[in-house]
Amino acid sequence: MEQNRKPLIAGNWKMFKTCSEAADTAEKLVKLTAGVNDREVLIAPTFTALSDVRNVIKGSHVLLGGQNLFWENEGAYTGEISGQMLVSAGCSHVIIGHSERRQYFFETDETVNKKIKAAIQSKLIPIFCIGESEKERESKNTFSVLDKQVSKGLKDFSSDDVKELVIAYEPVWAIGTGKTATSAQAQEAHLFIRSLIEKKFGKMLAKSLRILYGGSVKQNNIAELMSMPDVDGALVGGASLDAETYAKIVHF
Ligand code: PGA
Repeated sequence: MEQNRKPLIAGNWKMFKTCSEAADTAEKLVKLTAGVNDREVLIAPTFTALSDVRNVIKGSHVLLGGQNLFWENEGAYTGEISGQMLVSAGCSHVIIGHSERRQYFFETDETVNKKIKAAIQSKLIPIFCIGESEKERESKNTFSVLDKQVSKGLKDFSSDDVKELVIAYEPVWAIGTGKTATSAQAQEAHLFIRSLIEKKFGKMLAKSLRILYGGSVKQNNIAELMSMPDVDGALVGGASLDAETYAKIVHF
């Protein structure tokens, strides 16, 4: 973690929690992480719980994010949610291209690109997820996969467009499996991603870009991961669902 990049700890609640459960967890989290100002804390509940969570975190340091969005502002797109809708629900961030969306909902680098564009247009900060599968790692294709995901996902953007972008490196084999990447593996991937950003958008942006690690982040591995120079935060799934557990990660 570099001193000039404020760490971001983001909780991805996936398809868990009813409205009242989400509000209850968020309320506890606000209390348990009160006073934290050297890092940013975010939660991304389901769409249905956004408004209840917003009510309990209002005025606090906890930030709100969506887990997905559609690239049109409005229209006949049954079941979809737009960037401006997320903003109106109190979101400042949105997760885009999570591997579960790529795997189960057939998102591609091209649709991810459109979604990042839509997020930027709505003034949402995209948390752009990339990462290789186990097979890709074993066949030594990690870097080429990351290269492709970054170049296609960020196609046709200027450095100004992506100045607030956050990237989450989430090796698919580490998500929800309890198999965390070692801090050395995370650092190697993060450094590579930063070098891709430098080639594409220049040194200044590469230096300020925050790259989060995601994949079985827990209380017992967060400090080690965060000690790496290019790890600027975490995207936490399972371990963010319980306020006490998540707060311990936030306080790493
Ligand atoms: P996990 O999920 O922490 O449960 O592995 C991380 C993620 O999917 O963002």
